[in-house]
Amino acid sequence: MPKKLAIFASGSGSNAENICNYFAESSDIKVVLICTNREDAFIVKRANKLNIPVYIFTKYELNNFVDLHKKLQSIGVDIVILAGFLLKLPAIMVDSYPNRIINIHPSLLPKYGGKGMYGSNIHKAVIKNKETESGISIHFVNQNYDEGKIILQKKCSISASESVETLIHKIHKLEHNYFPGAIEKTIKKL
Ligand code: GAR
Repeated sequence: MPKKLAIFASGSGSNAENICNYFAESSDIKVVLICTNREDAFIVKRANKLNIPVYIFTKYELNNFVDLHKKLQSIGVDIVILAGFLLKLPAIMVDSYPNRIINIHPSLLPKYGGKGMYGSNIHKAVIKNKETESGISIHFVNQNYDEGKIILQKKCSISASESVETLIHKIHKLEHNYFPGAIEKTIKKL
């Protein structure tokens, strides 16, 4: 039986699409659902194009985790992937999937993690602080924001003329190159 993934995303969903394409021919791992809290997010269009079912929920539904849990259980989701999902998960969801929720964060955690640290906010802060390197962190999700066990980190250098846009591009390249493989390796070890 293949392991079934649900991908949670709140925005463009380039990582989600990349993961779907990576596992499209896999007999071991299958993306069975895309979940989002934003019905107008571009990820919905990508999911429709990929023919993957979409489940849209409210922040309330996430936090009480009754209907959403039923949905995940009804299709036998084994692993949850957070790929640009910007809401904090409730404790009840984290407890329901121990070491079964994987997040990607666009900085070298523990630097630039925690509340308010997402997307371009992170890159702005990194450049403002004149960091010489940044990168990505792939990690398990636990009860504390951005503090779960690290699975993989990859670095990129920051040039003197780096802008938020060029840094986003570098980070996305790292994410697209390494996230699907890290998911695959992690699942094989479970
Ligand atoms: C990615 O860079 C991801 O690391 C980041 O949002 C972006 C989503 O891009 N996630 C966070 O900031 C979570 N704290 P995408 O929608 O194109 O995949």
